[in-house]
Amino acid sequence: MKIAVAGKGGVGKTLVSGTLARLLGREGIRVLAVDADPTPTLAATLGIPSDVADKIIPLTENDELVKERTGMDPKVYGQMFKLNPHVADLADKFGIAGPDNVTLLVAGTVTIGGSGCMCPAGALLKALIRYLIVGMDEAFVMDLEAGIENLGRGTSKGMDALLVVVEPSQTSINTVGRIMKLAHDIGVDTVFAIANKVMDETDKEVIETTLNELNIPLLTVIPFDKAIRQANIEGIAPLDFAADSPAINAIQGLIPELRRHLSL
Ligand SMILES: Nc1ncnc2c1ncn2[C@@H]1O[C@H](COP(=O)(O)OP(=O)(O)O)[C@@H](O)[C@H]1O
Ligand SMILES: [Mg+2]
Repeated sequence: MKIAVAGKGGVGKTLVSGTLARLLGREGIRVLAVDADPTPTLAATLGIPSDVADKIIPLTENDELVKERTGMDPKVYGQMFKLNPHVADLADKFGIAGPDNVTLLVAGTVTIGGSGCMCPAGALLKALIRYLIVGMDEAFVMDLEAGIENLGRGTSKGMDALLVVVEPSQTSINTVGRIMKLAHDIGVDTVFAIANKVMDETDKEVIETTLNELNIPLLTVIPFDKAIRQANIEGIAPLDFAADSPAINAIQGLIPELRRHLSL
């Protein structure tokens, strides 16, 4: 199962990707959780202690690594660099083992405008994502920044699904259309929506109306859940704080839905 999770900032991408990764891991599957957010927070949701997480350097910010693999010093402009850097060992070398069979890889991000960033860190990230999708047989769940700009054309083919998390707010709902278009542009056809922070039937209807217009199947409705907020306040992974809370149960329910839709 190779999945990326996108959506507007704050909608619950990290909650969904981190918890989904761990629940898959609990089934005995080895899972790689990839944090591609410029402000990485997936470690906390995965239950990796903050003193460990604080020491992680995102791959794209590891200048020495970028230089070693692309042959170019990220700080010096105008050099030639390898577009196909060696990346197959990165998950093993830089992955952090967390609970439930999940390994975290903090990939970092690069700001890419439209056609893609022609910088060495961008080349490394692209090659890594391509390798994870095509060359690796473990499950992986990728927590993306607000958009999906990091997934260039050709990088994402072979990904099983893009999950777009939506909350009942107009800005979040408007983002769905934009993400849908980007997904289409880069050749990702399987897009599913997940509604999150849903308080009542009206919330659900607002989201459903838009999704129907865009023709995106809604896989799961995750309720607004005080336990998730509380976990956040106390700095405990939601799955460790309230394993049986309504939101966690909804994310658990996502797994059979995904399997059914993807025939996995
Ligand atoms: N279902 C929910 N119920 C209550 N709070 C939630 C829920 N989902 C997410 N949150 C809270 O919303 C905030 C943003 O969630 P997060 O997963 O970090 O979003 P993103 O990764 O999309 O920025 C966090 O404080 C989180 O605890
Ligand atoms: Mg996040």
